[in-house]
This record gives sequence, C-alpha cells and structure tokens, in this order.
Amino acid sequence: MEQPIKELTMPPEKFGIYVHWPFCAAKCPYCDFNSHVRRDPIDESRFVAGYLKELDYMHNLAPNRHVASVFFGGGTPSLMSGKAVAAIIDKIAVLWGYEEDAEISLEANPTSIDSQNFAAYRLAGVNRISIGVQAMNDTDLRKLGRMHSVDEAKAAIKLAQKHFDRISFDLIYARPHQTLNQWQDELKRAIELGTDHLSLYQLTIESGTRFADLYKLGKITMPDDDHARILYDATQDICAGYGLYNYEISNYAKAGEECRHNMLYWRYDEYAAIGAGAHSRLISSNDPSIRYARIDQRQPEKWLEMVEAQGHAFIDVEELTPSAQAIEYLLMCLRLREGVSLARYEYLCGEKLNARNVAKMVAAELLIHDVEAKRIRTTEEGLRLTDYIIGELLG
Ligand SMILES: C[S@@+](CC[C@H](N)C(=O)[O-])C[C@H]1O[C@@H](n2cnc3c(N)ncnc32)[C@H](O)[C@@H]1O
Ligand code: SF4
Repeated sequence: MEQPIKELTMPPEKFGIYVHWPFCAAKCPYCDFNSHVRRDPIDESRFVAGYLKELDYMHNLAPNRHVASVFFGGGTPSLMSGKAVAAIIDKIAVLWGYEEDAEISLEANPTSIDSQNFAAYRLAGVNRISIGVQAMNDTDLRKLGRMHSVDEAKAAIKLAQKHFDRISFDLIYARPHQTLNQWQDELKRAIELGTDHLSLYQLTIESGTRFADLYKLGKITMPDDDHARILYDATQDICAGYGLYNYEISNYAKAGEECRHNMLYWRYDEYAAIGAGAHSRLISSNDPSIRYARIDQRQPEKWLEMVEAQGHAFIDVEELTPSAQAIEYLLMCLRLREGVSLARYEYLCGEKLNARNVAKMVAAELLIHDVEAKRIRTTEEGLRLTDYIIGELLG
C-alpha cells in the first residue's frame, strides 16, 4: 500500500534568498533577462529601502529558517554600492540568521567600474563572485554587445581572485561561425586564468531580443545541431581534463565547488526572491505539503512603488499542489548529474513515480536507475531530452 505523504520524513530543506538588481549599463543584444537601462541615475537608497521592506514581508511568510545561501543576480548587481549590498546582507542576518558557512554570491560584469567594488563586497560578506566574461576574443565581445575587452575581463578575474576564494565565470559558446578549434582554444585560455567553477552556455536566440530580430532577417547564422553537439562534447572533455565535472547541463565545477545556491533551486529546496520580476517558492506555514509560487512585478519602478505601498510587489501567487511540485522537482532535478531522488519525489508528490514508465525510459537508454541509491538520472543522450522524459514518466 502507498505510504501517506506526511509519514515520509525528509531532511529539512535548505533555505536561500535571491536578490534581483534589474539595471544594466547597456542591454546586450542576446539577453532576455529582466534588465533595464536608465538614462538618469538610479535612486539606490530608495531601492535598498524597498528590498529591506520586501525582506520583512518574506520573513513574515517564512519565519524560523536559517539562510544557507544568498545570490545577488541581475541585471548587473555589480553596479550596486558595497553599502547597498551590506545593508541587504545585514538585514537577512537580523531577520533569519545565516547557517554557518553560508554562501553569498554576486554576479559581476568585468568592466573597471564594476570591479572597483570588489573589496567592499567582500567586506559586506559576499564570499563568491561570478563574472560574466562571455568570450575570450575582442571581436566576439563586440558582437555580443559587451562593454569590456578580454584584457579587462582578465584584470577583473585577477582582482576577484585577490578578494574571493571562490570565483566563477560565464562564457557563451556555439556562437555564429565559431569553429571547434576556436572554442577549444578559448575555453582552455579561460580555464587557465584559474577557477573552480564555470557556467558555459550555448548561445540561445531569445524572442524579443535584438539577436532574434537579426536572426529573422538572416543576419545571424546559428550553428546546426550537429556542430553544437560537437562543441558540447569538446566542452565536456576539456573541462574533465581540468578536473571540472559537469554537475548540471551548463555548469562545471571541481568537486565541492558547485554553486550551492543554484543547487538549492535544482534540488527544489525553498527560496524567497526579492526585486523586480523575482520568483519565490515558499512552503505554506499551514500545510507543509503546499508550496506557493510568487512572482514580483517586472518593471523596476512599479515594483518599488508596490513595495512601498504594501510591503511586497507580487503580481501572481499560485498554490502548487503536491503533483505540481513533483513536476517542478523533476524539471529542475533532471538537469543535475546526481539526478532525482525517488524518495523526495514521493515525499513531494504523495505518490511513487510509475515504475513501468521509469523502466521504459531506462530501456530507451535515456535514464539510468540506481536501485541502491534510489535515484534516477539521465544518460548523456537523455540530458538533452528532459522535457520528453518528463512527459513519458508522468504519462
Ligand atoms: C543574468 S546574466 C548576466 C550577468 C551579468 N549581467 C553579465 O552580463 O555578465 C547570466 C548569464 O546568462 C548568460 N546568458 C544570458 N543570455 C544568454 C543567451 N541568450 N544565450 C546564452 N547565454 C545567455 C550569460 O552568460 C550571462 O552571464
Ligand atoms: S547579459 Fe548581463 S549585462 Fe547584458 S543585458 Fe543581460 S544582464 Fe545586462
């Protein structure tokens, strides 16, 4: 007989906080993140007061937790002053308190303006920095609309290494006309700058971006699937050669250096998210089998007005039933090399995953079932077909 959900015990979930800074110095033509460029200076102290107020609201919804990780993302949070970052980190300490060895990450662009704040971020409590290098040649950086050169990126990395033990950087590959040799050379040069963590994204044409317009006009040629696959396989090989394992589709790290905040999303733990367009997942205080998805207003100035008026800027609050949570868990966790815990799936869903469907995906060589560890994970082939696999598992 199926066990009722409440009798299954699971270790307590990790709790993280995402802080979205929605402004950038310029809009990159490939980017569809919630990022905005303003001609007039941003009223930072007013925004910080808004963040502190929204944190109070989140604390009322989710008290009695300790914070395992904070992530300042964007947009370009490295345009925030050290004082602003410190005010948010300190407020979180007062409201919830941190777990020992909490991870506090901040995304930085590698221009000299952005990196001048590194020392202040470290003092504020940031202990991990993620730098958007994107390409290792100046021509492509220009084509990507970036406001920095390779030399500036190298200088930013060097400075970051002085202040932080943990640094990561992002590169975008499978760019128009990028050959295998060019990418191999770029990736090796990047890794040799020294890092224990890399995010390596294949360029995606996102609708509504300038690249999408150029693509429609035939002015951008994207690599075909076969070439993209060759580049992906080379990425795996090169990273493995440097001891960086592919712990998620686009993320590579030395063992123990995985981004804990992102792991918290992918393992479907609990998180509060503040700032324009941020998405939260908080467990209901009344019924732990229910989770709420909350989405904040995307437009930064409207977000601020809403927070000032009512303490939050939610434009949508959805109650996620156990089965909706189980689907989200699969979607997130199948991206991870460690895969899905069948016990956690059952805990969230209240039902076991259908064994016949799992066996079918194993027979199709898309999933591996580790019976002893009670986990399923994708094969290399399955990693690219997660939507299909989920459909089959739940079908
Ligand atoms: C929030 S963004 C960037 C943070 C920071 N503002 C920057 O640009 O360095 C996070 C990362 O997503 C990646 N990214 C954004 N748009 C992308 C796209 N269309 N295709 C592939 N990667 C993308 C970039 O590598 C970027 O560093
Ligand atoms: S890639 Fe980064 S800097 Fe460029 S628009 Fe997006 S968030 Fe801003």
